[in-house]
Amino acid sequence: MSILITLEGVDGSGKSTQAKLLANNLNEKGYNIISLREPGDTELGENLRELLNDHQGTNTSITDLSQLCLFLASRAQLVAEKIAPALSGTNNIVICDRYMDSTLAYQGYGMGFDIELIKRVNSYVVGHCKPSLTILIDCPIKVSVSRTIARTKKMSRFEAKANDFQKRVREGFISLANEEPKRWHVVDGTLNKITLSKQILLIAVNAIRDLSGQKTPE
Ligand code: TYD
Repeated sequence: MSILITLEGVDGSGKSTQAKLLANNLNEKGYNIISLREPGDTELGENLRELLNDHQGTNTSITDLSQLCLFLASRAQLVAEKIAPALSGTNNIVICDRYMDSTLAYQGYGMGFDIELIKRVNSYVVGHCKPSLTILIDCPIKVSVSRTIARTKKMSRFEAKANDFQKRVREGFISLANEEPKRWHVVDGTLNKITLSKQILLIAVNAIRDLSGQKTPE
């Protein structure tokens, strides 16, 4: 049985670092890991990622609605090219850094697009490729914004987006987690990197065991 695990959180929550650590840690335990990220990881997705990042940096005009459509297009391609084939194989663990819930949190809760509509389109786009486990790395906005500023030096963009938008996104993720407590696990993004990675590994190993009814490879 193959399983899709997703990691979600606001910008600067440490999600990408933890996605990599989880992939390495599970790999060391003998699992067959396929690591992906959104937007990206297909030719179309990487082009869209560049477009969307460039837009954030330079104010190229991409409307919010266009952004919503581009994130969904990137996802549709990733599902078709990578996720669906991986999940139809045996014993693959697919780890995706952001997925369908990011669109709900950012474009839905953050930008104000209709949540139910995004849920319907998301379902259509991912089909049977729904995550079995989603880890939310929750982080106070003050912490995540200062980490992002330190990393990108893009002070104005993140300061401007920080207060209202990022707070709505964070609250959105928390609401989504509360709606589906079986799928979501919320962890504390202010913990030290290694402590947090151990917690996430334990959550993932338990979930894989429960979902597949298998023992760990070790
Ligand atoms: P991410 O890859 O996490 O950022 P980074 O460049 O720091 O690695 O995500 C890129 C941005 O795209 C991030 O601000 C979240 C946003 N995003 C959405 O707004 N909607 C979506 O559906 C997805 C997948 C990402």
